[in-house]
Amino acid sequence: MILILMGPPGAGKGTQAKRLVARYGIPQLSTGDMLRAARKSGSPLGQKVAAIMDAGELVSDDIVIALIEEKLDGSEASEGAILDGFPRTTAQAEALDAMLSSKGRAVDAVLSIEVSDDDVVRRNSGRRTCPTCSTSYHVEFNPPRAAGVCDNEGAALVQREDDKPEKIQARLAAYHRDTAPVLAYYQPQGLVKPVDGVGSIDDVFGRLTAAIG
Ligand code: AP5
Repeated sequence: MILILMGPPGAGKGTQAKRLVARYGIPQLSTGDMLRAARKSGSPLGQKVAAIMDAGELVSDDIVIALIEEKLDGSEASEGAILDGFPRTTAQAEALDAMLSSKGRAVDAVLSIEVSDDDVVRRNSGRRTCPTCSTSYHVEFNPPRAAGVCDNEGAALVQREDDKPEKIQARLAAYHRDTAPVLAYYQPQGLVKPVDGVGSIDDVFGRLTAAIG
């Protein structure tokens, strides 16, 4: 099963992907997490993408396509995958179709988590992340048990550089400009399932699993 989770920045893709992993037993492939891991390791790739990510702009298609191709070729994704944050441009969607069809596979569903721009700002500005295990919290909507501290690791939570107000606006602009058209790419194939992303995390999860069927 190849599922794509789409939606604007902060729609809840990562939050829901982790629950879908537990439900369906297939891995989450998040290009955002992969790029952040590359930055943390200080690799040449990480150094190359750091400024682009901090500005809220999209990393070049060839870089993210190569990251996803490597994962889809691996044994981890042999039963399927939940793609989180990929594809984000029509060129990435075309590359994904080509790499899947060469292996006799195809996208099963594109789950489009819908939230307003106002919600995007509220969710991203209140997000805090564990620097050790990457678990994401929200100061108001999904707080940790102790303020500012990860439930799992006990580490002090941090704010992502691209969650600063002006960067949120840049990410939103990139979403409307480059990523919203990806839905139009999948629409004629009947793959797009719109899911209301407003409500509790449990409510949204229920809608997603109902849409997957
Ligand atoms: P990426 O990490 O993919 O960022 P994003 O798309 O902006 O998505 P986020 O991770 O910010 O949000 P999310 O939808 O996962 O929401 P979350 O669950 O955390 O990419 C980062 C950067 O990497 C990009 O800007 C780009 O530079 C680069 N990049 C990545 N992929 C790329 C690609 N394919 N091509 C080119 N460049 C790429 O939730 C957000 C907050 O809301 C949390 O605090 C959470 O607790 C809270 N929340 C979640 N659900 C709810 C709910 N139902 N109600 C209230 N609060 C909620």
